[in-house]
Formats: sequence, structure tokens, C-alpha cells
Amino acid sequence: MTTTMAAPIVQLDSVHVELGGHEVLCHIDAIIARGSLTAVAGPNGAGKSTLLEVIAGTRNPSSGAVRLAADSVSFVPQRAAVAELLPVTVRDVITVGAWGRLGAWRPMDAIARRAVDGALERLALTDVQRRPFAELSGGQRQRALLAQGLARGAELLLLDEPTTALDAASGRRIREAIASETRRGAAVVCVTHDEDLIAEADRVIRLDEGRVVDSAPA
Ligand SMILES: Nc1ncnc2c1ncn2[C@@H]1O[C@H](COP(=O)(O)OP(=O)(O)OP(=O)(O)O)[C@@H](O)[C@H]1O
Ligand SMILES: [Mg+2]
Repeated sequence: MTTTMAAPIVQLDSVHVELGGHEVLCHIDAIIARGSLTAVAGPNGAGKSTLLEVIAGTRNPSSGAVRLAADSVSFVPQRAAVAELLPVTVRDVITVGAWGRLGAWRPMDAIARRAVDGALERLALTDVQRRPFAELSGGQRQRALLAQGLARGAELLLLDEPTTALDAASGRRIREAIASETRRGAAVVCVTHDEDLIAEADRVIRLDEGRVVDSAPA
């Protein structure tokens, strides 16, 4: 019997990042499969956020290549700094995600609105949906950005420590959202120190000082 590997959604070929004369990532090779959860673990300063930024395209590698086969990517950074006067509500942020489902020149329809309501509900944001996004705490902002990715139905979700500093119930809610996204076929790459989340991952990439020290199925 032969098995065929589905084409990966992300492939990193010898990705190298130097910042301020310091090697932050050293020749990283990695493959991310569709429908899988990849946990990125390692100590503070290991290069985890930098790796996610390189995949998201918000930081260019000094050398090497990032190959991406996704039409829609959602990125939830570790610290989402926003201008205090940014005139958007939590619901607006999530609605932006739903536009991605509609295609050009299509009005916001009931299905897209339901996607927004569903994402708010799944991440327990319904009660704060009318509040300005800039007024949210760091953890709530991350939840709102994750909800935007759910509303979009993104093929690739990049999450930087989404459960850090969350209470147990919120952490569980996020782990459940991640699990249901991989079940529908999305690839999730999640930087985390959360042992529960690491235990649920299909693959764990452990970084230390910019190098992969372990990359194994969990
Ligand atoms: N602009 C920069 N110039 C120089 N060094 C930088 C810069 N940005 C990050 N670094 C360094 O790169 C290394 C990796 O940083 P990164 O934020 O990717 O780590 P991390 O694994 O996400 O850490 P944490 O667990 O604390 O979030 C650190 O040593 C950091 O000091
Ligand atoms: Mg980080």
C-alpha cells in the first residue's frame, strides 16, 4: 500500500534571521501540514515569536525561504499594540474577518453575520463586542484576533502564546477553538508554554537559542 503525503501548507528552507548582529534563528527547516496543530516551544528569547513572524511574512529572513500555500492567513501576535484612538469595536475587528468569506462586491449577508456571532460566542466575547478594541486587555485582544481568524475561516492560523496569562476556563475555550479549526482542515502553528496545548499538538518544534533542538510528533 502506498501513502501519499498531502502538500504542506508551509515549508521553511534553511531560514536564517540576524537581528542587530545576533543570530536569532539559525537555518530552520520545517514543514507544516494542513489540518494539524504544531506547537512551538522553548525558553524565553529562543526565537519562537521571530519564527512565527517569518511565517506570517511580517519579518523577512536574512537568508533561506518561506514557502506558503495558503490564500488566507490569520496572525495573532504576542503583543498587539494599537493606537488608543483606533475607532473600531471588537465586533468590527471580527467582522473584518468575515468579509474574507464573501468575495468581491458581495454584501455582508446573514451567513457572514452568523460567522461573526459564532466567533464572538466561541471565544466568550459577546459581552464586550461593542467596546473599542483599544480598550481591551492584552489577553482579550488576542482572543478578538483569534475570533477574526475563526470568522474568516483562515487556512493557516499563527498564534503567539494565546493561552498565556489566561484563567483555566479561557485557556480551555481557546484549546477547544484550536481543535475545531484543525478538524475542519486548518493548519495551526501555536507558540506556547502551555503543557495541555503541547500535549494536544500533532508536532512540537522545540527551539533554543534560535536552533531546533527537537522536532517530533508529540
Ligand atoms: N529588533 C531586535 N534586535 C536585536 N535582537 C532582537 C530583536 N528582536 C528580537 N531580538 C532577540 O531575538 C531573540 C529571540 O526573540 P523572540 O521574541 O523571537 O523570542 P521568544 O522565543 O518569542 O521569547 P519569549 O518567550 O520571551 O516570547 C531574543 O534574544 C531577542 O532579544
Ligand atoms: Mg515570544
